[in-house]
Amino acid sequence: MSETESGTPFKHLYRASDIAGEPERIGEPGEFPYTRGVYPGMYTSRPWTMRQYAGFGTAKESNQRYRELIDNGTMGLSVAFDLPTQMGFDSDAPLAHGEVGKVGVAIDSLDDMRVLFDRIPLGEVSTSMTINAPAAVLLLLYQLVAEEQGVDPARLTGTIQNDVLKEYIARGTYIFPPEPSLRLVSDTFGYCRSELPKWNTISISGYHMAEAGAHPAQEIAFTLADGIAYVEAAIAAGLAVDDFAPRLSFFFVSRTTLLEEVAKFRAARRIWASVMRDRFGARDPKSMMLRFHTQTAGVQLTAQQPEVNMVRVAVQALAAVLGGTQSLHTNSFDEAIALPTQKAARLALRTQQVIAYESDVTKTVDPFAGSYVIESLTDDLEAEVLRLMQAVDERGGAVAAIEENFQKSEIEQTAYANAQQIDSGERIVVGVNKFGLDTEDDYEPLRVDPRIEQQQVDRLAALRARRDQSAVDSSLDQLRQAARTEANVLYPMKEALRALATVGEVCDVLRGVWGSYQPTDRF
Ligand code: 3HC
Repeated sequence: MSETESGTPFKHLYRASDIAGEPERIGEPGEFPYTRGVYPGMYTSRPWTMRQYAGFGTAKESNQRYRELIDNGTMGLSVAFDLPTQMGFDSDAPLAHGEVGKVGVAIDSLDDMRVLFDRIPLGEVSTSMTINAPAAVLLLLYQLVAEEQGVDPARLTGTIQNDVLKEYIARGTYIFPPEPSLRLVSDTFGYCRSELPKWNTISISGYHMAEAGAHPAQEIAFTLADGIAYVEAAIAAGLAVDDFAPRLSFFFVSRTTLLEEVAKFRAARRIWASVMRDRFGARDPKSMMLRFHTQTAGVQLTAQQPEVNMVRVAVQALAAVLGGTQSLHTNSFDEAIALPTQKAARLALRTQQVIAYESDVTKTVDPFAGSYVIESLTDDLEAEVLRLMQAVDERGGAVAAIEENFQKSEIEQTAYANAQQIDSGERIVVGVNKFGLDTEDDYEPLRVDPRIEQQQVDRLAALRARRDQSAVDSSLDQLRQAARTEANVLYPMKEALRALATVGEVCDVLRGVWGSYQPTDRF
């Protein structure tokens, strides 16, 4: 008998006897425990959102790419920010040098946000923003632009990733220590409850932990444990669970190991439904529904024979769809080499469109239900995930476990074992350790113009020269006062941003009050 990626048994043959438990563990789509999907009709009523992650260079260049994607049929926007923005630094900060506009778009102010969404009707699109520590800042800039377009904030739809706990575990774009970070997340939940009721306030992510090496059970367990920590923090801040839980969302990876991935998504929904009902007493069904976005596994793309990645992405995308995702990003085949070219980005979207409109997997709900292997793997994965969640609980919960490096060391052990399997040839990577080519074909990657950093720095200087500095100073002081008390910081933050305070200036005020996180890496 072989093993799954998660280390559970993988039988060479499954039979009816392998489907354990009573039928209600599988249940009906759109009903508790949502094993078969969160909506009754799933894709028979509406396909998943095709939401391609994009953004690089200046706001003007990214705006161009978003309008191309919309013209090519993308159904939702997904903004990638450059590292200085993600870390709460302005483009002219010393630490920003060399990173401006590289892995995403540079956003320093309300001015840049206006350019980013120029000629894009924010009342008609849903926009995801991959931003964590300064998520509240970018959300408010988005709302200010929408208000200038005349959009009713109550109609604004989209998502901020806003998941700092996974940044301490993987990825690393954190700013403040855990306690003020959780305070800022809870303030954002409270603000959206009142001001932006259709906005998804967080995208609790397993993707980056998976990309760092986590296997499926670790990915789900550590993500749901982070989710529990956010729910506990919001309740401790005085929010009622059904007032914010319906707007929590999740984000997972989809690997080439299709069968285990489909089982992974089904197990995740079933576990979260029980956690919310039984551990937190949620009564609103929407509080128990695990709605998620999926991105195909970037770490499984190869630089060798890059076209082969199109096949990998198609299998990974199919796994996400058969697993019931609400939103999907398909990677471009050239992303192991550089940022995607326009043609590669279009092909990635076309992959989703073939699955949605040429295949028959959208003609029926949860087609794998009742499959001997899928239901058995779903049960096995559920057990392994619950075991790992228990291990986090025993350490005092996600934050305490992070502070003792539990999740990070577990993931590193899995990553190391995977690397050894590839080196030994036990784990085949086509084109890399088997079926290679003596000479690779030529490929011209996309290059980001290095001059954009100076353009951004000049834009910032012009902004600072023309704004009302006394208005900026007094609004930043209001923010500083709020950060020192229990007041919701998003209200003074919005007025500072409206006065053209920059992302970096707002984050510096909060750093001054809350401090910066110092990792406790212990080897
Ligand atoms: N039946 C009935 N209603 C349905 C339906 C169906 N079959 N399908 C959809 N709907 C309804 C929904 O109820 C919803 O209405 P509501 O908001 O009033 O409830 C509406 O139609 C939209 O449907 P969804 O909410 O399911 O789809 P969205 O696409 O709007 O939202 C999400 C999906 C997962 C909830 C949301 O959080 C989302 O879009 N997340 C995206 C996150 C993302 O893109 N992240 C990118 C990260 S990139 C990154 O970090 C990696 C980098 O670092 C490398």
